[in-house]
Amino acid sequence: MSLLELDGVKVHFPVKKGVLFDRTVGHVYAVDGVSLSVEAGQTYGLVGESGCGKTTLGRAILRLVDITEGDVVLDGTNLAELPGEEMRGMRRRLQMVFQDPLGSLDPRQNIESILSEGMAAHGIGADREERRTRIREILAKVGLPTGALSRYPHEFSGGQRQRIGIARALVLEPDVIICDEPVSALDVSIQAQVINLLEELQEQMGLTYVVIAHDLAVVRHISDVIGVMYLGGLVEEGPSDTLYAEPLHPYTKALMSAVPIPDPAVEDTRERILLTGDLPSPSKPPTGCRFHTRCPWKQDTLCATERPELKDAGNGHKVACHYAAEIAAGTVRQTVPGAVRPPEAETAPAEVPAPAKPADDGRTADPGGRAGRAAEPGKTAEPGGTAGTGGTGGKSAESAESAETAQGGGTAGTGTTPEAGGTPEAGDAVQADEAADADEATDAGEAPKTGEAPKTGEAAETVEAAEAAESAVTKD
Ligand SMILES: Nc1ncnc2c1ncn2[C@@H]1O[C@H](COP(=O)(O)OP(=O)(O)OP(=O)(O)O)[C@@H](O)[C@H]1O
Ligand code: SF4
Ligand SMILES: [Mg+2]
Repeated sequence: MSLLELDGVKVHFPVKKGVLFDRTVGHVYAVDGVSLSVEAGQTYGLVGESGCGKTTLGRAILRLVDITEGDVVLDGTNLAELPGEEMRGMRRRLQMVFQDPLGSLDPRQNIESILSEGMAAHGIGADREERRTRIREILAKVGLPTGALSRYPHEFSGGQRQRIGIARALVLEPDVIICDEPVSALDVSIQAQVINLLEELQEQMGLTYVVIAHDLAVVRHISDVIGVMYLGGLVEEGPSDTLYAEPLHPYTKALMSAVPIPDPAVEDTRERILLTGDLPSPSKPPTGCRFHTRCPWKQDTLCATERPELKDAGNGHKVACHYAAEIAAGTVRQTVPGAVRPPEAETAPAEVPAPAKPADDGRTADPGGRAGRAAEPGKTAEPGGTAGTGGTGGKSAESAESAETAQGGGTAGTGTTPEAGGTPEAGDAVQADEAADADEATDAGEAPKTGEAPKTGEAAETVEAAEAAESAVTKD
C-alpha cells in the first residue's frame, strides 16, 4: 500500500445567491474525481494550468476544505472520515508549504516563535530549550543562520522566507509535505536553489512530497511521478521520464510543446500544438471529455458525450483519452486545422490564436488575472514563469470571499499582499550587517532588498486573514 492514496476525491464548492435566503444555484466542480497514489520517499508532481484545481486538491488532502466525495488514505487511515479531533492530530503528519512565503508567515512573530508554535501544539520537544535546539538543527538544514531565530519574516528575502516556510513544515517531522507552487513567487535565479534544497532534504530525511506547479519545468526534475490535471480531473499520469518522452494526452502534448528546449537544433525541429480558448468554467464543465472544447484531435463520436477514464496504457503510464492509442499511431485525423504545427512551419513566427469567449463565472473579469494568462499554453508552461502567482481572478464572484478566508495561507490570495518575494518593510529594521550575516549562510542573490519600504499595515492585514487557515496547519 502507498503512503498516501486518493480515491475518487471530489471537492464541489456551492455557488450561493440571494440576500435573505442563501440559495445554492450551482457548484464549482473544482476537483472532480481524482485518484492517485504517492509512494513513501517519492515526489508526486501535479501540474495543470491556473484554476484547474491543484490547490484545492492539496487542501483537500489536508482536509482544509470539505471533501464532497472520495477517500484520502494516509498510511492506512482514511482522513476523509476522521472526526475533527483525530484529524488535528493527523495534521502534524501532513504539512503544506505555500506559494507566497511572506503572506503565510505572521509578521508579528519572530522565527523562533513561528517555528515553535506548531511543535508545542503537537507536543514535540519537552521544553523550550529542546525545541530551540531542534529548530537550530532544522534552520541549518535549510541553509539559514541560527541568528535567524530572533528575527522577523520581513527581515528576509523571498528565497529565505521560503526556506523558513520549509523549516516550519520540517520541525513537525511530517510524513508528507505538500508544496503548493513553492517557487513561483521567487526570482528565477532563486527557484533552482529552493528546488535543490527540497531534493537534498528529501534525500537526507526520506521525505515524501506532493509538488504542485503550473510549470512543467519546475516539476520535471524533482518528480518521480507526474500527474497532469485539467478542469478538476487527472488526464494523464506516469513516471516522470516516460511522460516527458512520450506524452499521450493531447493536453499534455500541448503543454509539453510549449516548453522551450535549450538546444536550438531540437527546438527548431519539433512540432508545436497551439490550444485555442480559455479553460472552461469549472462551474459549467463541458460534457464528455472535458478537453473536447480545445482538443485538436476531437472526434465526432465519444469525445463530447463520454468522459474518458484514466486507464493504464502500459508501464504505469495512464491516460484519459478515448483516442490516445490512435493519436499516438497517427491513425485519427486532427480536426482543428492549424492547431498542430509541423516543424517546418516553425520557420515563421507562430501565431497564437485569440482566446475564445471568456468563461462566465467571473474568472476572466480580471484580464490580467490568472484565468486570462492561462489560456496560452506557452505561458502556462513557461519555465520559471510566474504566471498565476496569486491573482484571485480565478475565483467566482460569489465564492471569492469564502475562498480567501479559507485559503489564507496565501496560496492564491495575494490580492492585498505585498508583492510576494518582494520586500518587507523593514528596511529600517534590518541593519546592513545583519542582512549580510543572514546571507552568508544562504546565497548572496537572496539578499533582502532593504531599500524598499514595506507596507506593514498591508502585510499585517493579509496575514491576519491568512492566520485562520494557517493555524489550522501549524497549530492543530
Ligand atoms: N473556496 C472556494 N469557493 C468557491 N470556488 C473556489 C474556492 N476555492 C477555489 N475555487 C475555485 O475552484 C477552482 C480551482 O481553484 P484552485 O485554486 O484549486 O486552482 P489552481 O489549479 O490551484 O490554480 P492556480 O494555479 O491559479 O493556483 C477555481 O475555479 C476556483 O475559482
Ligand atoms: S477524448 Fe477526444 S476530446 Fe478528449 S482528449 Fe481524447 S481525442 Fe481529445
Ligand atoms: Mg493554486
